[in-house]
Amino acid sequence: VVKKTENSQVTMRHIEGVPLLGSTCDAWDSIYGFKARGDDILIATFPKAGTTWMQEIVDLILLEGDVEKSRRAPSFIKVPFLELIPLKPMPSGVELAQTMKSPRVLKTHLPINLLPPSFWEKNVKAVYVARNAKDCMVSYYYFQKISKSLPDPGTWENYFSTFLSGDVPWGSWFDHVIGWGKAMDKHQILFIFYEDMIEDPMREIRKVMKFLGKDLSEEVLENIKYHTSFQAMKENPMTNFSLHPNVDQTISLFMRKGTVGDWRNHFSVAQNIIFDEEYKKKMEGSGLNFRTEL
Ligand code: A3P
Repeated sequence: VVKKTENSQVTMRHIEGVPLLGSTCDAWDSIYGFKARGDDILIATFPKAGTTWMQEIVDLILLEGDVEKSRRAPSFIKVPFLELIPLKPMPSGVELAQTMKSPRVLKTHLPINLLPPSFWEKNVKAVYVARNAKDCMVSYYYFQKISKSLPDPGTWENYFSTFLSGDVPWGSWFDHVIGWGKAMDKHQILFIFYEDMIEDPMREIRKVMKFLGKDLSEEVLENIKYHTSFQAMKENPMTNFSLHPNVDQTISLFMRKGTVGDWRNHFSVAQNIIFDEEYKKKMEGSGLNFRTEL
């Protein structure tokens, strides 16, 4: 693997023990002090859990299925990424959000303990998308290769340990899902599994619609399902990241596979044993049941 220059300059530092991009840490005061609005909708995920997919679903629900309007801008512009400080001259997530009309849809990968407090002060609705750790790991490995904003992942062998120890940007997958999962009884959080979205997209889109207090016809829902399918989003320049200045898709596509169980093509037998042991220790008593295959 040839290290891209931009990638090798990317640094990670810690906020309250959580590894974040150095640029995020530098701007931390403005990020943590972010002023949420009561009608914001927050999409929170660990990286690679299906964030972009949910962004499109939420946007189309708010637009009542108007596909033309959903193509007004790329997903990374329509939905500000709260804690991101882009490499190339683009506005930061906070700046982008401040100029937007309500209702805003916002994206974050922050673990719940680092979320700006104004979100809860304003009782903002959050959709949390969770994806099984094995597929997240594989997806993140490829994404770290193609994103110039993230550190180079190194070899798969090394990455496996790095991910498991939580030393990737935004930290431990385990802490992330457990933290957000626990907060469900305190805040307005809809917890959605990526695997459920793959299994029955209509059922999950309907859940999101109800959570957002909308009532859309079956026809509109079918249309939303169609336009947020893997194939449709892969072909749509507004969703496939082809317009993103900091993602180089020559090595791997952003819309890579979109399946449950691709980890089987990457995990060795030994890695799978190590992973399952660690998983059991960390997830026992969490009450969260992830599926790694359908
Ligand atoms: P893979 O790398 O496994 O293909 P995020 O948006 O959080 O970065 O997540 C990206 C992952 O979600 C990628 O996973 C991508 O292919 C997948 N994804 C994006 N849109 C999807 C869709 N409409 N259906 C299924 N998977 C989708």
